[in-house]
Amino acid sequence: QWTTSSIVDEQVARIREQVGDGKAICGLSGGVDSAVAAALVQRAIGDRLTCVFVDHGLLRAGERAQVERDFVAATGVNLITVDARERFLDALKGVTDPEQKRKIIGREFIRVFEQAERDLKAEGDYGFLVQGTLYPDVVESGGGAGAANIKSHHNVGGLPDDLQFSLVEPLRALFKDEVRRVGTELGLPETIVQRQPFPGPGLGIRIIGEVTGERLDVLRKADAIAREELTAAGLDRQIWQCPVVLLADVRSVGVQGDGRTYGHPIVLRPVSSEDAMTADWTRLPYDVLERISTRITNEVAEVNRVVLDVTSKPPGTIEWE
Ligand code: XMP
Repeated sequence: QWTTSSIVDEQVARIREQVGDGKAICGLSGGVDSAVAAALVQRAIGDRLTCVFVDHGLLRAGERAQVERDFVAATGVNLITVDARERFLDALKGVTDPEQKRKIIGREFIRVFEQAERDLKAEGDYGFLVQGTLYPDVVESGGGAGAANIKSHHNVGGLPDDLQFSLVEPLRALFKDEVRRVGTELGLPETIVQRQPFPGPGLGIRIIGEVTGERLDVLRKADAIAREELTAAGLDRQIWQCPVVLLADVRSVGVQGDGRTYGHPIVLRPVSSEDAMTADWTRLPYDVLERISTRITNEVAEVNRVVLDVTSKPPGTIEWE
């Protein structure tokens, strides 16, 4: 009989055995898996764990604070934040192709993270790297029967050759729901433990067109409003995730107050799903849609139209890019 606390005890014992009196590094993404993996290792080896969080500037409103403030408050973990926002914007300048964006974001992310690892290694004897690999990831990367790689997912990456680390993967035997329970057992905040999926390339693949600082600000505001209203309506558990997408190269005419506007559309893409392989568009209540639409067009000056994506997957993917 696997209780959550016995999973925690067993993993803590294993981590202690593996790491001995060594030191470990863990990259945090803001997501559930890396947070729970880090919290387990922190429970096992305390301040011999250092976490690294890369702010690539493609995060949603409040996500950096969730890691820097809430996660640290819950675990007491050592955290280094690398502010790489400008570097990512520079690398993405002029790029509009979705796969190109993913490759650039993935490549820059690995470079920044490796540099942080090198800096830490130079400072102390860090021999272990923590990864939030789950059981389904293990099965998937074991070369399951020809699942087409429709979009390259950058967070299932290899290890750099020139940095020698032993991997610590305390979630390797667990499914997502078990990981959430372990996170709760370890005292992590609900906002982290129940977080819906969010892609590694972040808002970079939710701006259709070139990614710029101004466009990111627009999308962040619209996204925050949508999330706020969905949460207030108690719909978070019902929705798998709700990408909010900025059609940055599209403009439409509108009228607001006493003037004509010529702004950008925002797309709401609420989906219901079991595993993201297939998905259905979520039938959100009209009054919730109305609140989101009214608030976005009132509060985000650059946006004058909100549209709803009513496409299932297939044929549409969940993300627009
Ligand atoms: P799609 O758009 O392929 O998305 O239907 C399926 C799920 O995967 C997420 N997603 C990504 N996650 N890196 C990630 O870490 C990516 O490049 C990426 N692309 C899509 C998406 O949010 C959904 O949950």
